[in-house]
Parts: sequence; structure tokens; C-alpha cells
Amino acid sequence: MATAASLKQEVIDVSPLGESLPFGATVAGLTLAALADEAVRAALRDLWVDRGVLLFRGGETSQAMHIALSRCFGDLEPHPFPESRQEGFPDLVKIKFYPEDGSYYDIEGDLRGGWLPWHSDLIYTHRINHGGILRPVELPASGGETGFIDQIAAYERLPVALRERIAHLHVVYHVDVDMSLQPFVDQGSARLVRMAASGTAIEKRKFTYPRVIHPMVYTQAETGRKVLNVSPAFALGIYEDGTAAGDQLLREVVAICTDPALSYFHAWQEGDMVLWDNWRTLHSARGVAIDQTRVMERTTIRGDYALGRPLGLDGPVADFDI
Ligand SMILES: [Fe+2]
Repeated sequence: MATAASLKQEVIDVSPLGESLPFGATVAGLTLAALADEAVRAALRDLWVDRGVLLFRGGETSQAMHIALSRCFGDLEPHPFPESRQEGFPDLVKIKFYPEDGSYYDIEGDLRGGWLPWHSDLIYTHRINHGGILRPVELPASGGETGFIDQIAAYERLPVALRERIAHLHVVYHVDVDMSLQPFVDQGSARLVRMAASGTAIEKRKFTYPRVIHPMVYTQAETGRKVLNVSPAFALGIYEDGTAAGDQLLREVVAICTDPALSYFHAWQEGDMVLWDNWRTLHSARGVAIDQTRVMERTTIRGDYALGRPLGLDGPVADFDI
């Protein structure tokens, strides 16, 4: 099997995403023809597990390449909400902001379209997808960066006493697409000004989705590394401690896992594709000025780390030792 090192020599160019970043890699010049080689595909999978976020730049780029590349890392799945699916393209989710449609927020006087704070995709379901690849369709003149933050590095920064306190705890999540109502998102005085049409459709049905729980820490199967598994957006609190003390503990952990010193903000160029490990990184969208248009397509790479549980009336549904 080709290693990342031999790929660098033989087929494609692999370099760090940022000099001081504890995660991420850039893969330059990848072609659809190169992807046909199973050794290349296996090496890309190894690189993904190792680095968490891969930027593909300067290679072939098209909707077909986007889907073929995504399939290297697992089967694709449609979004659980029909409102979020793209008609005729079940493998793609459209993430969009138009001046005439799209959610926007007033963040201390700054109006931002398509803003999304730090989160894991689908954490409000009990089977969170393993990853996704984002590809720009229409970029704004400025803004629109996507942030990524590494939760292996975050875990390593936790004081030992805090690691012990959270080792066996779980966080409760629910779906609420109004990001200004998220109790564990620290964004000053964010206020929703307009909800996207697709968001309104989800909000209408938000009480029909069960709450779910996910463990605060999980172990990456391939490497044994511990991951801090906390998404500030969609979190309601700590399952085992719904008191003010539990909320304070979660706030303490969130402050560490969203430390800007751990983050990378990607400034998009035409032709870029970015793959991330949704079990190991948080991501966010900086948003755009509300007179701008930004359209991205995302694939959803299936997987189940098998640790999430829906909550029923008597606690978690199904066998879960807590
Ligand atoms: Fe997302």
C-alpha cells in the first residue's frame, strides 16, 4: 500500500495545511485517473485518519470528481431531512446564501448571511456521518471562510482533572436551526434576523425529532487517540447533570475545544475541495455580507461510530452502558 510519504514522491503532492497546525494536509494536483488506483485511495484514507482535514487544490474539479473523491472515504448518504436534499442529486447537500433567501444574523451590529458557529454535522441525530467534502459552486467577493478545529489537539490540552471529570459523561443534543438560541454557543448578542426558507421547514418539525446523546470523549479506532466529542451548537447540556454545575462544566470544556489558537479558517478558491473528519473536527461558517451570494455543495460520507443514542422517555433507547 502506498503511504502518504510515497504518494508525495510518486503521484501527488502532499504538504501541511498550515505550518503550526496540529492537523490538516493539502493534496495538490489530484486527478480522476489517479483516483482509479486503489493504492492512491488507500493512502488518501490513511492521510485523512492521520490529519483530519484534507484540502484538495490544483487538481481536477467537477461534480463527478467531487462525488468520486467522496466515495473513496465511504458510502454516501442522503441528508436525513428531505428539506436539505438537492432535487435530482441525492448525494449532494446545497449550502447556500442569497440576498433574497438564507438565514442571517445580527452579531453585535454585523449582519452575516449563512453564519454557523462551531458544530459537528448531524450531531442532533444518533448516527453522525463520518465526514463530508465541500466544494464551492459560487463564491462571494469576500468572506465566506469555513473554519475547522481539531478535537484531538483539544483533548490533549484538557487538564488531567477535567479529562477525568468528563470521561464517562454524555452531551444531550437537539435540532434547532436558530443559532442565536444555542445555550452553549458564545457569540455575544447574536440575533436571528431572517430564517432561510429551508430552515423554516425544519423548524416546523423540530419537536418531532428525538433528543440524542453522544459521549463527550471517544477513541479514534485506527490510532487509539482520544477525541473531545463536543459540539457547542445543538448542545442542550450534560445528560448526567442537568444542573447549573453541569452547564458550567460544559461551558468550561467548550471554551477549550473552541480555542481560536487551534483553528484554521479556509479562504476558498475556485476548484478547491475540502474533506473533513466529522468525528474528529468541529467546523464553522464565518458567513458573508447580506448582499453577497455563496453556494457550496457538500457530500455526506456515511459511517457510524456507534456511540450515539436517541433518548426515549426512560432514557437512552437501546443498549448503552451509562
Ligand atoms: Fe456543517
